[in-house]
Amino acid sequence: MTEKKGTYYITTPIYYPSSNLHIGHTYCTVMADAMARFKRLSGYDVHFLTGTDEHGQKIQTIAQEAGMSPQEYVDNVVDGIKKLWKTMEISNDDFIRTTEERHVHRVQKMFMRMYEKGDIYKGEYEGLYCTPCESFWTESQLVNGCCPDCGRPVQPAKEEAYFFKLSKYAPALLELFETNPDFLQPDSRRNEMVAFINQGLEDLCVSRSTFDWGIPVPVDEKHVIYVWLDALTNYITALGWPDDDEMYQKYWPADVHLVGKEIVRFHSIIWPAMLMSAELPLPKQVRGHGWLLLEGGKMSKSKGNVVDPVKLIDRYGIDALKYFLLREYTFGQDGIFTNEVMLKRMNYDLANDLGNLVSRTVSMIEKYCGGYIPGPAKEEDAEGTDADLKAIATGAADKVEAQMDKFMFNMALEEIWVLVRRANKYVDENTPWLLAKDPEKKERLDAVMHNLAESLRIVSILIYPFMHSTSKEIRKQLGIWYADVAWEDAFTFDMLEGDQVKKGNPIFPRLDIEAEIKELEAMNKPAEEPNIPLKLKDPIEYDVFDKIDFRVGTVLKCEKHPKADKLLVFQIKMGTERRQIVSGVADSYEPEDLIGKKVVVVANLKPRMLRGVESNGMLMFADNVVDGKERFEYITTVADDGNPVT
Ligand code: ME8
Ligand code: MG
Repeated sequence: MTEKKGTYYITTPIYYPSSNLHIGHTYCTVMADAMARFKRLSGYDVHFLTGTDEHGQKIQTIAQEAGMSPQEYVDNVVDGIKKLWKTMEISNDDFIRTTEERHVHRVQKMFMRMYEKGDIYKGEYEGLYCTPCESFWTESQLVNGCCPDCGRPVQPAKEEAYFFKLSKYAPALLELFETNPDFLQPDSRRNEMVAFINQGLEDLCVSRSTFDWGIPVPVDEKHVIYVWLDALTNYITALGWPDDDEMYQKYWPADVHLVGKEIVRFHSIIWPAMLMSAELPLPKQVRGHGWLLLEGGKMSKSKGNVVDPVKLIDRYGIDALKYFLLREYTFGQDGIFTNEVMLKRMNYDLANDLGNLVSRTVSMIEKYCGGYIPGPAKEEDAEGTDADLKAIATGAADKVEAQMDKFMFNMALEEIWVLVRRANKYVDENTPWLLAKDPEKKERLDAVMHNLAESLRIVSILIYPFMHSTSKEIRKQLGIWYADVAWEDAFTFDMLEGDQVKKGNPIFPRLDIEAEIKELEAMNKPAEEPNIPLKLKDPIEYDVFDKIDFRVGTVLKCEKHPKADKLLVFQIKMGTERRQIVSGVADSYEPEDLIGKKVVVVANLKPRMLRGVESNGMLMFADNVVDGKERFEYITTVADDGNPVT
């Protein structure tokens, strides 16, 4: 029996359901899953939480653009996210949605704890806001005028708001980092956070009032709670804090919050400060992992350059994808995702090394031993290959454990592959096909086959946290499908005797890398949009068009039309001339945003009255939408006022 070791609570970030998740989110969840399975197998009582972060300005805007209510919008995306984790056999024990009632009322209680402590006060926020990151910035924190985290433009925000006295907790936070170096890992992240605090912490705006998709502030219903205060609290609301706190008592404080490096600041500064204010224990550790990058930069839902995990799973299987993610990248560092790197890992490590070991071991036992695993040998070979193989096989579990303690998934897998490769080499050294030719060497042949079966049995235990289906398939082929996978069985050799093996299909098919790369590239090409001609008015002769005089103009003034909601009244300067033009664009623009902008003017259109205001010409606009925000783009920006448009 595996010895009981207490509890282990691990979390992933709760992802924004702004669109479907990509391989970057999958990477984080797959690591958390491997750790959760590893800890369960080592005897811990594990609680593994993931979920979705559904409130905030970004979601509200995206839902609006999709023509749906925010709730409808997130329900739809969250369905897909839950399906993805199910397909990937992620072993989370709970899935929290921040729109669930169990979360909403508890966040309000958290807010009130901080408020009653005297740590939340009312003021006015004036600064900058990055909607994709849902984060506040000051002018001096910007990099090239953009959000320092994601590099996208920020918007000015000015509103009455509630503030959390974050600055008050700066000394306690510095002390936390100093006295508890394990609190934030890897070390490089800790240095960044200490530097961030030392620059001076400002109080944090914790409410918004310019949109309403959020949890109401209990003392002031005009405001919704800032989405990060709402989201971070999920780690305790999901445990039932504070009103149904059996799970909370059992699992809090969390052993580890696993998060991407861009949100380490929220988890290692804001979240601990919130907990200090509420007088609750802090999580034991925050671990920041690196980003998966495409050759062109970070994968991002809003950039649209994402790799879809579902397509990869359909083609290569769950375990191949999980193995690749865990083996290829070093925890804490960024890594580049390419199809070629992925396919090579799958081919070399899985099809060649592991797949080959399984298939040749099982076939040889069928061929040379009538399909039954021989019992342990009485003695080891003089050359020492038996002793070496056994030492590596029974020593691997400790090495895997040591790497897992450091979240070094890639090194843990490497330790297992040291054994896989050693076992393959053992086959070549002992050449069973030659031993089989000499009846006098039957005892040695049996010993070799026994040792190979034992090595595979140990491999099947060691890979279980990372690839449980493959583990089960190997155990099925070894004929030990009936036995539970137990970690302590990885430390002993010579457990098998007389089990009947059964050859199956190759556990990982060999891939034609070049053909696969072509296939993946073709799959990722966006479907070509159909080209359907527009229905237009009758064609005109060039001389008719040539009668129109287009000129470039600059907006001097722009006001609402006194009698018509849809109209704006412009004063336009075209070279030496000024004139008044009425245009029906009030739905698209705020008048003050247009001042100083250039527009194309149909300058020789006969004057006419529009609802009692004279209009001398026509203005032409075109729009673009950038990052969910409407931006202006003009037909021309090159020509000067008054000049003809070319
Ligand atoms: O930040 N490479 O949600 P989010 C590696 N809702 N990991 C990546 C990645 C990439 N290219 N892209 C995303 C939020 N991730 C908040 C969290 S928690 C209280 C609230 C992973 O949908 C990585 O773990 O933007 C990152 O931290 C997380 O997804 C961000 O997901
Ligand atoms: Mg993000």
